[in-house]
Amino acid sequence: MSDSSTANADPVPTTGADQWSPQLIKDIIASHQSRPGAMLPILHGIQDQLGYIPEASVPIIADALRQTRAEVHGIISFYHHFRTRPTGTHVLHVCRAEACQAMGGRQLESHIKSSLGIDYHQTSRDNEVTLEPVYCLGNCACAPSVQVGERVHGRMTTAKFDRLLSGLTTSTLELK
Ligand code: FES
Repeated sequence: MSDSSTANADPVPTTGADQWSPQLIKDIIASHQSRPGAMLPILHGIQDQLGYIPEASVPIIADALRQTRAEVHGIISFYHHFRTRPTGTHVLHVCRAEACQAMGGRQLESHIKSSLGIDYHQTSRDNEVTLEPVYCLGNCACAPSVQVGERVHGRMTTAKFDRLLSGLTTSTLELK
């Protein structure tokens, strides 16, 4: 297996955090509403489109599904996958599953958190990186693994991570 693959890639937001509108939320709801258990597909659909679930979408979802706002909030907060704030420029997933932990994943995780100055489900102060845990990226043979955007990076070390992070922030600067 090579060092990297695109296995288990998260959908890339196709719209953007500043593009949300009540109509967009209604359209996403309409495309899932007739399904049994429509709440989760709707929440996934919104996050796939926008990268997060805006607070202002909660009453729209609640009305459409005839549920209370508290019930919608309850589902969003139960699943750590769902975000209620926009992500940073890059989403970094760190594998916390067994094979990666056995290959130095804990030490790598500590290094990543202290380098970024954040914990899981948080975004760095410069708004560049959002850190998320993941439980197996399907790249166990090259553990420990992390994923940035759609790309999985295997055999990660603290030094490799420092280079990866430096490359991310450099490319962001070039784009700006
Ligand atoms: S356990 Fe980390 S990639 Fe499978």
